[in-house]
Amino acid sequence: MTGSSFYSQPIVELHLEPTDKCNARCPMCARRKQGGPLVDGVGQTDFSMQVYGALLVSPALSELQTLRLCGNLGDPILHPKLDKMIELAKSHWPEASIKLNTNGSIKSLDWWFDLGRFFQGKHDLVQFALDGFGEEFSRYRRGLSSDEVLKRAESFIRGGGRCQWVFHAFAHNEHQIAQAKKMSKHLGFESFVVKKTKRFFRSATSSWQSRFEVLDESGQVVDSLEPAKAAKHPLAVLESAQSAKEILSGCSITCRAKTRSSIYISAKGVVAPCCWVGGQVESDSSGALDLQEILKSHGGQKSLQLGSSQIEDILHGSEFLGALESSWDDSSGIHKRPRVCERICGQHEFGFRQQFEEPKSSHSAPAQSGLV
Ligand SMILES: C[S@@+](CC[C@H](N)C(=O)[O-])C[C@H]1O[C@@H](n2cnc3c(N)ncnc32)[C@H](O)[C@@H]1O
Ligand code: SF4
Ligand code: SF4
Repeated sequence: MTGSSFYSQPIVELHLEPTDKCNARCPMCARRKQGGPLVDGVGQTDFSMQVYGALLVSPALSELQTLRLCGNLGDPILHPKLDKMIELAKSHWPEASIKLNTNGSIKSLDWWFDLGRFFQGKHDLVQFALDGFGEEFSRYRRGLSSDEVLKRAESFIRGGGRCQWVFHAFAHNEHQIAQAKKMSKHLGFESFVVKKTKRFFRSATSSWQSRFEVLDESGQVVDSLEPAKAAKHPLAVLESAQSAKEILSGCSITCRAKTRSSIYISAKGVVAPCCWVGGQVESDSSGALDLQEILKSHGGQKSLQLGSSQIEDILHGSEFLGALESSWDDSSGIHKRPRVCERICGQHEFGFRQQFEEPKSSHSAPAQSGLV
């Protein structure tokens, strides 16, 4: 196996997907087809505690500064031992802060109160996905109720935990932003952030759609979502596939994962530089074909699998990481780099940070999370 110099510094950030299970049916979440039928193979896997135990003592992660519990396909609180995972992380990585993204809709109020004790450090944070109230909230967080989430967040805050209110803005809920921000202060959230979704951009066609159809379990259209007007993602200007390709193809890439020395590990134990590439490594959608091509000829998914390989072997021996890095130099004129790297880390105005409202005060700060 050819060695890879992808990471020249120790890993300081680990984004882990504790599970690919969830009790909600958010239409733009990758776990279901537009909120309808589950994607094949999803919804069955909790991260192995045995593999987790090996990560805790791994030399590759001994300098960890941030553990992010989130993922692409599930909600961390569905992992039956999430609190144990957090307790172990606190004892093995005492210097690391913990960030947890959740819909906050299950577990008892006492469980949330107790969880508060792990989130008291300056950089510890639970990010509650609270996209408004009442019917507006449940239109995206299908199957959930905002009252149930608020009760749990309040209990967590009473237990001393630090948290952020993350508001995913759409046309149907953006009128509630001001009220939500006010309430977040009143309830004791540390900060409030509006997330402008990028997911009206379809990677399969490289174009922005102004309407997104929502399906039920049987695949019938039951609703449609429209982008927020006030909190519109800059990608919305890329209405034609041609303009998107032209702008994205011309950009240079600065890899966030390399720069930050961060890695992503999915619930199935597959290692990738980031959640965006991690999502495509495990996907058979047409939008992931370019990435899959590189993967197929450089070791395949199996070569990134924890359990059969140690994390050190993957980080320093992976042919895939080397090939991915080489693909970013697009000067040959033959486009071979994955579009996902252009969208997320291209040096243009559509990248990762553009989805968050600029911080205007201490009560508004950018959040990082799973697939964009
Ligand atoms: C699969 S979720 C896992 C965490 C948790 N279940 C949640 O929904 O926050 C990963 C990330 O997807 C993000 N997400 C969900 N729907 C989104 C949307 N329409 N646009 C942008 N981000 C979205 C959330 O911010 C979340 O942090
Ligand atoms: S976005 Fe989060 S809460 Fe919604 S279905 Fe996906 S994992 Fe569940
Ligand atoms: S999308 Fe590509 S360039 Fe960006 S962090 Fe991931 S691997 Fe690096």
